Amino acid sequence: MQATQHISRETILRELRTKFLGKSLVVLEKCSSTNDVASDSARHGAPHGLTVIAEEQTAGRGRLGRRWLSPKGGIWLSIVLRDALSIDAYNSLPLTGALAVARTLNSSLGVGARVRWPNDVLASGRKLAGVLVEAKSKGDEFDYALLGVGINANFPISLIEEVDQESTSLLDLVGSPVSREALITTILSEVEYLNELVSSKHSEVVVKLLERLECSRGKIVTVRLQRGEISGVFDGYDGLAKVRVATREGNVETINTSAVISAEYRKA
Ligand code: BTN
Repeated sequence: MQATQHISRETILRELRTKFLGKSLVVLEKCSSTNDVASDSARHGAPHGLTVIAEEQTAGRGRLGRRWLSPKGGIWLSIVLRDALSIDAYNSLPLTGALAVARTLNSSLGVGARVRWPNDVLASGRKLAGVLVEAKSKGDEFDYALLGVGINANFPISLIEEVDQESTSLLDLVGSPVSREALITTILSEVEYLNELVSSKHSEVVVKLLERLECSRGKIVTVRLQRGEISGVFDGYDGLAKVRVATREGNVETINTSAVISAEYRKA
């Protein structure tokens, strides 16, 4: 395979249009997980918006402690979010992160990306990107959150041996390597924009943007929560923080996204 160009920190900093996100920027050749590096930095006082990018992760992780294969050519990044983030914006992060990625991929590459609640980005019905949010509190108070974003970008999905037939990559979709710097700068702007909307009590605008790109409605989903499992048809969003699931028994259950342990969709 043709080697992909390295991510240029200078290019990102030159093109960046954000107020905070990415202004403090670390680009690494290799690390265990960008969430680990960002978390260490946050513990040592890194500012709101610090962004850590790696060409390759040796121990990338997904939700529920699953392994996230992260070869060279992907977009693997973590953003430190603190102070400026309202509690609503924090609770909505998996969704707003996924929406930011889908909007970026559509406006930049027109790949028809869709958001699958609670945190996936799909294209052509296959998983293209995922979001992992990890948070740290200080006593009773929220200290910082890490928004980890993984996008299968400039490598064929067949490179990841263990992958099932349910994933895809930008290279497979577009047919040639994409500019990762351009995508990263746009993602940072989108995350900042969406978080600001939520923090300033305009989540309804974000819900409208989400409705255009969401692909969960009408699908059969089993949601695991501390209080048990709920299975049924995904019926839509109640604001950003809650969703409705219509069960076989004829009830409509309202589920708080922040209480979700896992969500599995029945294969079409
Ligand atoms: C998922 O869909 O399960 C979430 C995947 C999140 C992967 C990203 S890659 C950058 C950051 N570092 C990690 O170890 N994980 C996230």
